[in-house]
Amino acid sequence: MQNCTQIAADLYYLGGNDRRLALFESAYPIPRGVSYNSYLLKDEKNVLFDTVDNAIGEQFFENLACALGEDKLDYVVVHHMEPDHSATFARLVERYPDVTVITSQKAAAMLKNYFGFAGKVHLVKEGDALPIGKRTLKFVAAPMVHWPEVLFTYVPEDGILFSADAFGTFGALSGSVMADREIFERDYLDDARRYYFNIVGKYGVQVQNVLKKAAGLKISLVCPLHGPVWGEGFGWYLDKYLTWSAYEPEEKSVAVFYASVYGHTQNAAEIVASAIAAEGVRVRVYDVSVTHVSELLAEAFRASHAVFASTTYNNGIFVSMENFLNDLKAHNFQNRAYAVIENGSWAPQAGALMDGVLSPLKNMRRIGEKTTVLSAVSADSAAALRALGRQIAGDVKAN
Ligand code: FEO
Repeated sequence: MQNCTQIAADLYYLGGNDRRLALFESAYPIPRGVSYNSYLLKDEKNVLFDTVDNAIGEQFFENLACALGEDKLDYVVVHHMEPDHSATFARLVERYPDVTVITSQKAAAMLKNYFGFAGKVHLVKEGDALPIGKRTLKFVAAPMVHWPEVLFTYVPEDGILFSADAFGTFGALSGSVMADREIFERDYLDDARRYYFNIVGKYGVQVQNVLKKAAGLKISLVCPLHGPVWGEGFGWYLDKYLTWSAYEPEEKSVAVFYASVYGHTQNAAEIVASAIAAEGVRVRVYDVSVTHVSELLAEAFRASHAVFASTTYNNGIFVSMENFLNDLKAHNFQNRAYAVIENGSWAPQAGALMDGVLSPLKNMRRIGEKTTVLSAVSADSAAALRALGRQIAGDVKAN
C-alpha cells in the first residue's frame, strides 16, 4: 500500500526505509537502518527527483502512482547515479516510457553504462534553468559530493533545495519525514557525522565549494537523498557541515584509540585517558579491534586531539590500527594534534610507523615524543604516560 506524504505545496515524499540491510555500500553498519528518498513536485510539468534502491522499489512505485494520480510524469531529474538511488531507474522508464530524463552529461554516460539507456535525455549543467509552470528548476553542479556527476536542483519560487547525498544521514525515518532539531541531535547526529565523514568527507573542498554556492540562496526546505527533510533548524545542521567540511574539530576533546593484544597497550591507553580526564578534559577511549572503523573515523574527526596506541606486530603496526590509520589517510584526516604510544616486547617500532602515516598529513601536530611500553606498563612508563596525558590536556585547554 502507498505511503506517500505531502511535505509542502505540490511536493510529495515518495521514499521509504530499509531496516534489514546490515552494511550500507557493503562497508558501513547501519543498525538504525537507512532511508532512500525520492520526491515528486507537481506543476504544469510533474517532476520526479531521483529513484530509490531496489530494496524499497515496490513501495516507491506505489507511492509514485498514488502521488501522480491521473497525471503524467513529465521529467525525472537524476541528481546522482550511485545505485542506492538509481537502481530502480530502468523500471521507472519502462513504466513511464514518455518521461524525459534531466541530468548531467557525466550521469547520462553512466545511465548508458549501467542500464544501456538511450532514451530521451535533457542535459543540464551549472546555472541552467528549466521552467515547469509556476516554478523553475535551477541546476547546481556539485561534483564529488559524492560522485563526479552530482547535481543539486534549486527551486527559487519555494526555496527548495534538492541536495543529493549532501545533508543526508544513516538512520531510517520514524514516521515523520521532517527533521526536528532536538530529535535529530538525539537520534541521528552520530549517524550523520559517520555518514558525512565516511561517504563524503574525503571531498571537503568540493563540499565547501557547493556550500559557498548555496550561501546566496534563500532556502526554506532541504530535501536530501537520505534522512529527514530540513525546514526550520537547518542553519544548525548547516553549521555542522561547515565545520566538518573545513576539517575543523567539532569539539575540544581527546579521542584515545588503542590496539592491544593481551591488555598491556590497553592499560597504557587507559592511564593516559585517566590523566587527561583528571585535568577536566573530555576524553573517549576506543579499542580499534572492536569498534567499527567507520565509527572510529567519525570520532577522530569529531575531536580536536587524538592518541594512537598500538602494540608492535609482525614488525609493524597491529593490523586493526594499521587499517584505521590507512582509512584516516584515505579520508584526508588533517588539522589535528596527536600523540603516539607504542608497545613491544623485543623491538618496539609501532610508534615510529604510526608517526610515519600521520605526520605527512596536512596540518598535523605531534604532542610529545612517542611513549614506549616494553611488554607491560612499568612504574617509569606509567609516569611517562601520566605526564603525556597532562601535556595533552594542557594542549587542549591552550588551543
Ligand atoms: Fe546515497 Fe552516494 O549515494
